[in-house]
Amino acid sequence: MRGAVLILTVCLFAFFTSLYCNQQDSIPEGDLLVLTVATEESDGFRRFMRSSRHFNYTVKVLGKGEEWKGGDYMSPPGGGQKVRLLKLALEEITEDNKIILFVDSYDVIFSSGPKELLKKFQQTRHKVVFSSETLVWPDRHLEDKHPHVREGKRFLGAGGFIGYAPNLKEMLSDWSGEDNDSDQLFYTKIYINPDKRKSINITLDSKCRLFQNLHGALDEVVLKFEDGRVRARNVLYDTLPVVIHGNGPTKLQINYLGNYIPNVWTFETGCTICNEDLRPLSGLQESEYPVVVIGVFIQQPTPFLTVFFERLLNLKYPKNRLKLFIYNQEPHHDEQVRKFLEGHESEYQGVKLIGPVEDIDPVTSRNIAFDVCRDDIDCEYFFSIDADVVLKNEDALKILIELNKPFIAPMMTKPGRLWTNFWGALSADGYYARSEDYVDIVQGRRVGLWNVPYVSHIFLVKADVLRTDLKDINPFESASLDSDMAFCANLRNKGVFMFVTNMQTFGRVLSTENYETKHLHNDLWQIFENPLDWEERYIHKNYSKVLSDNLIETPCPDVFWFPVFTDVACNHFVEEMEHFGQWSGGANTDPRIQGGYENVPTIDIHMNQVEYDKHWRKFLLEYVAPVTEKMFPGYQTTAQFDLAFVVRYKPDEQPSLRPHHDASTFTINIALNQVGIDYQGGGCRFLRYNCSITAPRKGWALMHPGRLTHYHEGLPTVEGVRYIAVSFVDP
Ligand SMILES: *[C@@H]1O[C@H](CO)[C@@H](O)[C@H](O)[C@H]1NC(C)=O
Ligand SMILES: *[C@@H]1O[C@H](CO)[C@@H](O)[C@H](O)[C@H]1NC(C)=O
Ligand SMILES: *[C@@H]1O[C@H](CO)[C@@H](O)[C@H](O)[C@H]1NC(C)=O
Ligand SMILES: *[C@@H]1O[C@H](CO)[C@@H](O)[C@H](O)[C@H]1NC(C)=O
Ligand SMILES: *[C@@H]1O[C@H](CO)[C@@H](O)[C@H](O)[C@H]1NC(C)=O
Repeated sequence: MRGAVLILTVCLFAFFTSLYCNQQDSIPEGDLLVLTVATEESDGFRRFMRSSRHFNYTVKVLGKGEEWKGGDYMSPPGGGQKVRLLKLALEEITEDNKIILFVDSYDVIFSSGPKELLKKFQQTRHKVVFSSETLVWPDRHLEDKHPHVREGKRFLGAGGFIGYAPNLKEMLSDWSGEDNDSDQLFYTKIYINPDKRKSINITLDSKCRLFQNLHGALDEVVLKFEDGRVRARNVLYDTLPVVIHGNGPTKLQINYLGNYIPNVWTFETGCTICNEDLRPLSGLQESEYPVVVIGVFIQQPTPFLTVFFERLLNLKYPKNRLKLFIYNQEPHHDEQVRKFLEGHESEYQGVKLIGPVEDIDPVTSRNIAFDVCRDDIDCEYFFSIDADVVLKNEDALKILIELNKPFIAPMMTKPGRLWTNFWGALSADGYYARSEDYVDIVQGRRVGLWNVPYVSHIFLVKADVLRTDLKDINPFESASLDSDMAFCANLRNKGVFMFVTNMQTFGRVLSTENYETKHLHNDLWQIFENPLDWEERYIHKNYSKVLSDNLIETPCPDVFWFPVFTDVACNHFVEEMEHFGQWSGGANTDPRIQGGYENVPTIDIHMNQVEYDKHWRKFLLEYVAPVTEKMFPGYQTTAQFDLAFVVRYKPDEQPSLRPHHDASTFTINIALNQVGIDYQGGGCRFLRYNCSITAPRKGWALMHPGRLTHYHEGLPTVEGVRYIAVSFVDP
């Protein structure tokens, strides 16, 4: 009983406070109608509609499907079409209490809801409120005619206003302009006319309480994160505007803000749009998968191209729904491309190859590639990949399709660097600039979908974009810009949002700098430039277990045996040496070594003869030194070596090597081919222990002390050819 009394008291208290504290009844949200003009359903329009749905605005879209004749911000003035459409729409509105918010859509985002908007409108105590601007436009001669404001912006912006329907009707009654006339000039002339201003009861939102126009105001606006939502804050007037408008040349800034406002990404929720409007593929039969044209572009000598094609092959997607377009400008890569096609061309729905002999420039080739998709009515997507992209994620194509954006790129990185295939912002001259969130995105502290001004190397674009926004032009062509920048500029100008996603790890981009093509297997030389790719290609899959799981055998006392090279590495070294071909004669006199005399000569080629000595030392440091230091505790090696070479044993040449000490602190001996398959016999015997290793394993290294204890001999190879890579390390 006492509880009920308490509740009653509280209710009465609440009732009376509301009665006395609100001097004015608040406007019901149902009285508000948002009118906007959008002739196309662009990405910007979808963004606008999402933010209005988020706050439950009631929106009516005018001009859908109409041809746009109102000009654009690149060729001002314009916008008269919007006035005509608004005037027409107002004629249908009969209720006098209706409040109309008229805003642009492609470059507008709501950052708060109708309730706050209406409250702030009410607080202006006017019947029509226009957004304000710092700059007078399009006729600066009208500057002096504008009434002074005590604080804030003095000029009118036509991109956003709110008012009672009857007042707006009165304001528009004078309109008789053309679609390409300036709406802003029209409204300005009404505003600076004192009589009209008074009778229509117009004021400006000078301090950006309702509307924030970004043009001329970039320094005033910052993101404000608060409890699962994001707003823009005007730091000049300390206000939180409701409508954010990227007017004029501030499209990139509204795109940036739109990556957060109103709740697109927040600290509390992470990305909230990442699971919206998806196009799931999981339920589809393979034959129902959308047809994709994959464009592969080889425009420079590129390391690990064979691996690139292996990955392309392993992409998880039905191959009979894929068409390949391959552009190869490099004669050097002809062979690799040919081998790939020989093996796999028939698996794909179709293949078009443009090789170096056709002499087509890269810019043209990219548009020809687009044509392959444009001209095929079944083509739904174009997937562009440059050959220096290391696409590690086999699901990448599916993932990107499912995200269902007109244009999307997976974020690609370079190991250990802040480099990626996107730019977060542009400098004034259109080049790279770092956005405030760039590092957080690159390092994965912010994960989601990001609308950015530039991407390169790899992207997925819907065929519709190619057939509409980018028809009739070669979007890569420009008199002044590089083709990648020209392409992005065209997409920006067409209002196509370039999304980049870091929701998954997709892969990286190779360094193509300093890639020399004078050897047979040039990738062997990539240990410095692309160490990760070098390791993946050449270091044994179980090498990591050597240290972590003690995957190390001791076949003879103090002889350690562990996996280090892949089969590919072994093959490449053998083929490289045979390709070089200058095997020593096996005589005692050897001008290649200090002193010119070799006591126990082998038939071999030194690493420095093929310019591999620096690389070999790097290999020893990275992959052998850790094992040495583990097995010989307290000993630290600098991996200096006097000699490192590949030896060839052959029955009719040099089948074996007599007992000897190595001139080393320790010796590494890596088997480069396989006993029983490539040769018979062979192996190594340590005389002091009467212990032989007769079944060397391809890619495994033997490591043993050199000078003192491990007197040893090379056992005879009786058939075939045996290769080993030997290094005398000291110290
Ligand atoms: C919008 O309306 C829905 C249901 O009509 C409601 O659940 C939601 O809370 C509303 N959102 C806001 C921001 O008012
Ligand atoms: C506006 O369009 C009319 C034709 O409708 C044309 O004569 C006029 O030159 C255009 N004005 C501008 C500023 O483009
Ligand atoms: C505008 O209308 C309000 C009442 O709605 C009135 O108080 C105010 O004086 C009017 N302002 C002008 C300039 O007419
Ligand atoms: C790596 O080791 C596992 C057993 O631990 C073995 O099954 C596998 O074949 C090894 N991989 C290679 C490439 O030798
Ligand atoms: C060395 O080992 C082999 C077999 O492993 C054996 O036949 C031979 O007698 C041994 N020699 C010596 C000197 O112990």
